[in-house]
Amino acid sequence: MPVIAVINRKGGSGKSTMATHLAAWLANEGLAVMLGDVDRQQSTRVWLKQRDETLPKIVPWAQDQKNVLKVPTGVTHVVLDTPGGMHGFDLARAIMSTDAVLMPVCNSLFDRESAATCIAELMTLPRVSSGRCKLAIVGMRLDARTKAAQILREWAQSLNVPFLGVLRETQLYVKALDSGVTLFDQVPTARDADLQQWEPILEWLRPIAKLPAKPVQQPAVVQAKPLNVPEPGFANSSQSPVQSSRPPSLMPAQSAIVHGDRLSVFSGARLATTQSIEPIVVNRSSASTYSMQVPHFLQRH
Ligand SMILES: Nc1ncnc2c1ncn2[C@@H]1O[C@H](COP(=O)(O)OP(=O)(O)O)[C@@H](O)[C@H]1O
Ligand SMILES: [Mg+2]
Repeated sequence: MPVIAVINRKGGSGKSTMATHLAAWLANEGLAVMLGDVDRQQSTRVWLKQRDETLPKIVPWAQDQKNVLKVPTGVTHVVLDTPGGMHGFDLARAIMSTDAVLMPVCNSLFDRESAATCIAELMTLPRVSSGRCKLAIVGMRLDARTKAAQILREWAQSLNVPFLGVLRETQLYVKALDSGVTLFDQVPTARDADLQQWEPILEWLRPIAKLPAKPVQQPAVVQAKPLNVPEPGFANSSQSPVQSSRPPSLMPAQSAIVHGDRLSVFSGARLATTQSIEPIVVNRSSASTYSMQVPHFLQRH
């Protein structure tokens, strides 16, 4: 189960904004996503409560009878939002189950200093230094054409950490955080430029999330109708040119994550249309199908 964590010691660096967007991106890909906080405040739960039920579904941690937080049954992808200041044992415990860390970094000397300290600590963890948990930086609230973006890029290079690009400063992110939506949930018209900024980030994450690379957009070619192919509904329908209404980009990922019949979990392209996940209340036996280590400090006494 791919686990993506958004980490930076500095509060206000854009971790929750990034985590909510990543969860919504995966949900919009038709995947069963959990968005969970690695702290007691559980602030993304508040965001999830704002989220309209008609949007692709994202579930929070499940809680068992002992108030221990678990990944709900049926979830295939996890995004973790983390608190500012996370370090030491808490950081190491969170990394134990994580496959990729994204670090949003604003450009100021203080932000870079704080992020560099966090990266240095991450590099001491065998899971990160060995590459089992990948790490990359995203410039936050920056204009890609500015000197500031260049400074941040060079800084990331000096640390030998991939720099995936920048997300610009815009009120769209502020509004999204307030209302339970993301740029991935809305009709991509005026925000094409913003969605473009996510592309290199998503490209980096796709293999980690076991999603196929996005196909290169080819100019539309009008195909001549092939000879000897019967019209749909005519005799010999096994040769019908109509194969499936499912977007081809979803198929390889689903066949990789769903055991048995790949359509048995995702009966539609979107999780929102399925009934297979009961997110919040999970009894101990059903929650045990996935035994992600939940940090001790998440357990409520
Ligand atoms: N790219 C952005 N443009 C404008 N505002 C942003 C952007 N990213 C984050 N913000 C705003 O900055 C504030 C802090 O972001 P948040 O994601 O909560 O940071 P963190 O979780 O690291 O504390 C929030 O009000 C959020 O809406
Ligand atoms: Mg936050």
